[in-house]
Amino acid sequence: MSEAETRVWNALENLPRPSLADLFENGGRVDGYSKALDLPGGTIRFDWSKTHLDDTAVALFDELAAACDFSGKRMALFSGEAINVTEGRAVQHTAQRGVGDEAAVDEAGVFHARMRALVEAIHGGALGEVKHLIHIGIGGSALGPALAIDALTREGAMCDVHVVSNIDGCALEAAFAKCDPQATMIAIASKTFTTIETMTNAASALAWLGENGVSDAYGRVIALTSAPEKAVEWGVDETRVLPFSESVGGRYSLWSSIGFPVALAIGWDEFASFLDGAAEMDRHFLTAEGAENMPLRAAYTDLVYTRLRGCQTRAVFAYDERLRLFPSYLQQLEMESNGKRVRTDGTPVSGPTAPITWGGVGTDAQHAVFQLLHQGTVLTPVDFIAAIQPGDALDPAHHRILLTNCFAQGAALMAGQDNADPARAYPGDRPSATILCDEINPATLGALIAFHEHRTFAAGVLMGINSFDQFGVELGKQIAKSIETGGASFDASTTALLEVAGLT
Ligand code: F6P
Repeated sequence: MSEAETRVWNALENLPRPSLADLFENGGRVDGYSKALDLPGGTIRFDWSKTHLDDTAVALFDELAAACDFSGKRMALFSGEAINVTEGRAVQHTAQRGVGDEAAVDEAGVFHARMRALVEAIHGGALGEVKHLIHIGIGGSALGPALAIDALTREGAMCDVHVVSNIDGCALEAAFAKCDPQATMIAIASKTFTTIETMTNAASALAWLGENGVSDAYGRVIALTSAPEKAVEWGVDETRVLPFSESVGGRYSLWSSIGFPVALAIGWDEFASFLDGAAEMDRHFLTAEGAENMPLRAAYTDLVYTRLRGCQTRAVFAYDERLRLFPSYLQQLEMESNGKRVRTDGTPVSGPTAPITWGGVGTDAQHAVFQLLHQGTVLTPVDFIAAIQPGDALDPAHHRILLTNCFAQGAALMAGQDNADPARAYPGDRPSATILCDEINPATLGALIAFHEHRTFAAGVLMGINSFDQFGVELGKQIAKSIETGGASFDASTTALLEVAGLT
């Protein structure tokens, strides 16, 4: 860490710690700590006023950003430099939405045109009757499509899509039970086209088609991958391979051909709006400076809690059923990106990195986990995400109660309440941020996801880590493989477990 960074961190660690009540004492807190971004799909408001980020901390974080060359690194992201240094790769998910290095944007345009042609051929009936798609992928090849489809098809989908990730055969069998094999296509989504769960599920899905009388089972398979040659080798027809660039990271790949099931479910025009919404957030992130930059400000707030207040977790509650998969999407994005212990140069990080991201959906979570948030002994920063317009057509009371509960929780966490009986007292001064969209539609969802991608990257830059590799997932995979192939020896506990399960 440079001397300048060390100096700023020391200053940050020694800052006074005003309470939220103190921060609200001088008026203007809400104006200063909230911002509305007008985006193609409607306004998104970010309210950080109920967090402990204050002007002194912002000024120091701005200094930290300068010391880390945040602006230079941000430019390097968008201009296609190999910022994923451990893997020697550029990081080009923004190019998929049309923002970034020209060559990468052009290439993404070519791949999108190919994807669009296949989506429209299926919609137009050129591939026969396609009522269902079983989308097989895991991690970044599944979480994004699952979230977007779940959020955006509440009023019906142009194709019935089932996302299957788990190797547990129960997951695939559940999808089979809902699909007519004669009218089903299979998408194999794997950046590497080697992931054991995905390849095993793909083989079983192919067998299921054959066993159910589909004469040209391979003809029903589409591959979404950055290893097209492996897909062809596996047996996928070259015309059904939708490639994407290797420089698009797995957990950032929703915008590439990994988004094929989303486009199939919502139609190309809506998918294009989804990309446009994300692109608008890209342009905001690329041009807004300092705390005016919403993802950067969010990263400042995240560091207040992880680095300065010792918070090991961050909770995200979507007060919108359509966003119920958002917390699990964010878990991979944030924990796989920033759950690191060394800096870009290989030296140890000087403090905690990614918190454990967890969460759920409001109001359900209020009746399950909020007790700990209000009265537990750990401090947990909370993000609330909600929309002003309802997603349902029922009595407006539903949405009114949903939103009032969301806002009430933030107010209660901050205010607390005294009581002579300690069991009934609330300490208060517990932080929350609120992200309030006009509505949930493809463009705002795209912008919300892109906001979190950039927040994650910005936090990574401020901590000096590479947010784009994930070597931590490899060791477990290697050991599983050596168990499968046999001959390796393990610790006594693992050996006993393998024996009792009949796996030796
Ligand atoms: O094991 C982690 C991981 O590599 C993720 O980063 C990735 O999203 C997932 O596996 C799936 O990988 P692939 O798309 O190559 O099958």
